Amino acid sequence: MNQAHLSIRGIRKTFGSFTALDSISLDVRKNEFVCLLGPSGCGKTTLLRIIAGLEHPDTGAISAGGKDITALPPAQRNFGMVFQSYALFPNMTAAQNIAFGLKSRRLGKRDIAEKVRESLDLVDLWEMRDKYPSQLSGGQQQRIALARAVALSPDFLLLDEPLSALDAKVRHKLRGEIRALQEKIGVTTIMVTHDQEEALTMADRIVVMNNAEVAQIGTPREVYERPASPFVADFIGAINFLDGAELQERGLRGAGMMAVRPEHIGAEEPGSRGGIPAVVRGIEFRGPFYHVMLDVLDSSGEPLGRPMTIHVSAQHYQQLGLEKNKKLSLRLPEERLIAFEPQAAAK
Ligand SMILES: Nc1ncnc2c1ncn2[C@@H]1O[C@H](COP(=O)(O)OP(=O)(O)O)[C@@H](O)[C@H]1O
Ligand SMILES: [Mg+2]
Repeated sequence: MNQAHLSIRGIRKTFGSFTALDSISLDVRKNEFVCLLGPSGCGKTTLLRIIAGLEHPDTGAISAGGKDITALPPAQRNFGMVFQSYALFPNMTAAQNIAFGLKSRRLGKRDIAEKVRESLDLVDLWEMRDKYPSQLSGGQQQRIALARAVALSPDFLLLDEPLSALDAKVRHKLRGEIRALQEKIGVTTIMVTHDQEEALTMADRIVVMNNAEVAQIGTPREVYERPASPFVADFIGAINFLDGAELQERGLRGAGMMAVRPEHIGAEEPGSRGGIPAVVRGIEFRGPFYHVMLDVLDSSGEPLGRPMTIHVSAQHYQQLGLEKNKKLSLRLPEERLIAFEPQAAAK
């Protein structure tokens, strides 16, 4: 079934004269993991809060499972929520934190105990049940918060930057754990993040937002390989923008504004036919590859003041003997050139 589990239609939200969301429409399928991705202030949290019922839209409608829930209070929408700050009750143990929400559901003592055990097992923290939040690491606290959210068997899991406060190692590990848990219990999930790598690694589909609007909706590969606008191309991954007319002069297909990812540009010794001459301006070691900044040269070998970045493997780096001021010939494979619709190119 492809029927939208959650359907968001024409949502608009203003705070005074400020427009935080402008005609947002979006369908989320059952059991899908969707990421709202965009720069700080673009409206991600506001949209999540509207989905949760914590904020009311000026216009627009939200339906869940075919039922209009736009006017429903939060308590009558069955969602679990996890925030950036772990938001656990500091005076309650891990188990008590999870039991708290269940008590308000008027479950019996035995049912509660069972649910607590089940959800602690799910995040592999049963042995930490009697610890207070201050006795747990950030990653453990966030897993408890997650257990608390899923203990209520929510229809939707809403996550607002749940990994942002954690250090890199824990963050990377929890990405996989959250995704595995989501698949295991099969819960439709919407996660807010400003971290493109997080969205690319975790989401089934990414909703890229910018300035209160949806810039693009697509799978991670779609938004990376076929960005709908220069904004999306630039926000997700590294990119070089190119002038289509200039590409045409160099014998390539080109019109308007175009773009190419640094990892798709080839580098050879200078003078090879059909290549674009450039000179190395700076080199950053990135571990698996080198991020090399260049300046394109004109036909007489003069720098054009036009920066380009390419990614070069460690092996190729050695072969080329790359260093500052070295001249190279760049190759742009035509099939890797990204073109934009004229109206999108303005964004
Ligand atoms: N309650 C509010 N009152 C006034 N402005 C708000 C309120 N909530 C959010 N905003 C503004 O709306 C914009 C979007 O906020 P938010 O949804 O939190 O962005 P994001 O989560 O993408 O960083 C921001 O400019 C923010 O200052
Ligand atoms: Mg936010």
